[in-house]
Amino acid sequence: RLYRLSVTSQTHTLFVAHETSVILSAFQQQKEVRLKSSPADLVTETDQQVEKMLISAIRRKYPQHRFIGEESVAAGEAVELTDSPTWIIDPIDGTVNFVHRFPFVAVSIAFTVNKQTEFGIVYSCVEDKLFHAQRGRGAYLNGKPLCSDIHRCVVVTEIGAESRSITCCVLLCYSVRALGTAAVDMCQVATGGADAYYHIGMHCWDIAASTIIVLEAGGVVMDTDGSEFDMMSRKVIAASSSAVANGIAQVVQAFPCRRDNEA
Ligand code: IPD
Repeated sequence: RLYRLSVTSQTHTLFVAHETSVILSAFQQQKEVRLKSSPADLVTETDQQVEKMLISAIRRKYPQHRFIGEESVAAGEAVELTDSPTWIIDPIDGTVNFVHRFPFVAVSIAFTVNKQTEFGIVYSCVEDKLFHAQRGRGAYLNGKPLCSDIHRCVVVTEIGAESRSITCCVLLCYSVRALGTAAVDMCQVATGGADAYYHIGMHCWDIAASTIIVLEAGGVVMDTDGSEFDMMSRKVIAASSSAVANGIAQVVQAFPCRRDNEA
């Protein structure tokens, strides 16, 4: 299983190095921006270019593998998570940040087999932070192990195009933050920089990789109603402990969201 062998932090760096140099050089340039589903749902040619580069590089090595990529889905491909080896890719998580040169943009790549995530990589390009985790082998930031034993109550969320609730957590906790990239937001829980993250309305490619990073760092991931996490439901709570996650689940009121894999 070659893809297992490639899971070392050194190889991860190599793996995303070329694509991230494309993102970094485009970061400072003027971009041509197009709208997708709403005025807050943007795409640039760099999002599309990076996704194509990643998919063609992986496909050359693993021609039988399947893909769920944000921009391929935007172009009409279905979101189908099957038991086959599948790469779930967000080429630029934080496209609004990218367009505005707000320095939090990430490449997010998760790999699943039998619908279970085997490993995830989130590379926050401007910060030069590489988060990665492999199932059962822990989570790492720039090669250093992460663990979540910090109990400061800082909660991360997003008020994106489809988000309508935030005040519940303002009442509940000390402070609320939003970085504009769901993948990097969620990795804050893995580092202990934040105690919890909740979000309704993001997509599977935004959080597939960071989910395993939080779990391998010792955190918990669940649906916003407290039930088992479902990658396609577009609802998530990630927290440093079950107690914190359940506390958030009790106050978050989810609005209805079309599932990612709904036809
Ligand atoms: C978006 C970001 C943002 C979140 C949105 C996502 P994109 O992803 O993760 O933080 O609020 O829900 O769609 O479009 O930049 O890949």
